[in-house]
Amino acid sequence: MQTVQGYRFLTVEDADAMTEEENLRLFKKHIGQNLGKMLSMLGFADAIPVRAEGMHITLNDGREILDMTGHVGVLVAGHNHPRIIEARRKWGERRGLETWKFFPSPYQGALCHNLSLIFPEDLEIVFFCNSGAEANEGAMKLAQKYAGPERKMVAFTDISFHGKTHATLTVSGSEQHQNHHFNKLENCHMVKYGDFEALRELVESNLIRKGVSRVGTFIVEAIRTEGVVKPDSRYFQQVRQLCDQYDIALIFDEIYTGFGRTGKMFAFEHHGVSPDICSFSKAFGGGKATFAGFITRPSIYNKAYAKMNEATLHSTTYNGYGEEIVSSLEVLQIIQDERLVENSEEMGAYLLHRLEEVQREYSDLVAEVRGVGLLCCIKFKSKTEKLLRMISSTGSEAMEKFVTGAIITKLFQEHNILTFTPPHDSAQLLITPSLIIRKEHVDQFIEALKQVLGSSLWTVGFSYMKKLKG
Ligand SMILES: Cc1ncc(COP(=O)(O)O)c(C=O)c1O
Repeated sequence: MQTVQGYRFLTVEDADAMTEEENLRLFKKHIGQNLGKMLSMLGFADAIPVRAEGMHITLNDGREILDMTGHVGVLVAGHNHPRIIEARRKWGERRGLETWKFFPSPYQGALCHNLSLIFPEDLEIVFFCNSGAEANEGAMKLAQKYAGPERKMVAFTDISFHGKTHATLTVSGSEQHQNHHFNKLENCHMVKYGDFEALRELVESNLIRKGVSRVGTFIVEAIRTEGVVKPDSRYFQQVRQLCDQYDIALIFDEIYTGFGRTGKMFAFEHHGVSPDICSFSKAFGGGKATFAGFITRPSIYNKAYAKMNEATLHSTTYNGYGEEIVSSLEVLQIIQDERLVENSEEMGAYLLHRLEEVQREYSDLVAEVRGVGLLCCIKFKSKTEKLLRMISSTGSEAMEKFVTGAIITKLFQEHNILTFTPPHDSAQLLITPSLIIRKEHVDQFIEALKQVLGSSLWTVGFSYMKKLKG
């Protein structure tokens, strides 16, 4: 039998020296054949990123890529913000306690205090965890425990995404197509997003007795990230009133929208209402820590986990290690010092203004542009003749799917700009750059986008077919 000592483990230096081919081979073998193919088709496997700073990623072929994705919203303060790196370095050099499992951590305490300052009302009790889905799972468990055994029904909306664990997938309306593959959580009911009457009807048609509904939880996004859907504020005000009337725990998922993305610290601020529980992640780790959490009111938490033996009814091993906490302490300070929420509002308005210009110039291709702060999207007309002509003279249905991909590839390969399409609507680009973005970055992106939309995409379509076979 081979001993551990007998293995020739690959090192960071070995990884540094890898060719693009070897990198893609290992990715396809160990992480995902089809995912590898997809990244390769888009052109993202042709070179390897070696450095990332601020708005830019440097590739090993020397190219400097402008990152307009914010890496799915994680990079609130850009890549490798020097202050976050410094805070982590200083923390590491102290050789302090990292794990804090058996002692109350003053660093966790400080971060919770800071969160309680930026969240409204008495939202002040915090649970730390690792991912958005985990934060929503915890939030839903808390709501269910609060509501009690008679009121286990959970309402969620038809266009929504809350994660890919069993529970969060069940309540992700936009993922309904894939839910039949997996076991679902019981007692979850879908209502139309933005339709107050649908929610009221669900609540009031499930009364146990006067004034008490089986619905105990409502989970919703204050602004739906994908497609940038912002319901009328009246909707959320009515939702808040209904939740108060029936004591329903209102969970806002701010995983993508939180910490300035929409030009306000939290998206719910656009509606003038507050949640009972709010989940957050992505920006919270400053792009350096995989970090998430939820915050709630004492009245909710203390009723839900009232007994001594319930103190660990919800827990996880990795919740609030030193380096995560230090990263978040620093990123919150950066958001304030660098006025990133204000910049998100200002640059978001400018980006939207310029996207509207693109829509006017390419109205045969662009169906719609939307934006709230630096949460923006551009939707393409999926079946226009021009698109089909751009891709191939024959114009098959299959080729049509490649349109957004081809635009992404061209922006990347010919204009050094990174963009992405969200999973549930491949006919749109979701544009969520870091909140440090400046006007010149917006201009560079818009000029490149115009050139791509004015050019032919058929060569990209052809290379896709080749890579799809490979
Ligand atoms: C609104 C929203 N909720 C939940 C999640 C799930 O977060 P995670 O991927 O960290 O599990 C996401 C991820 O994109 C999200 O956008």
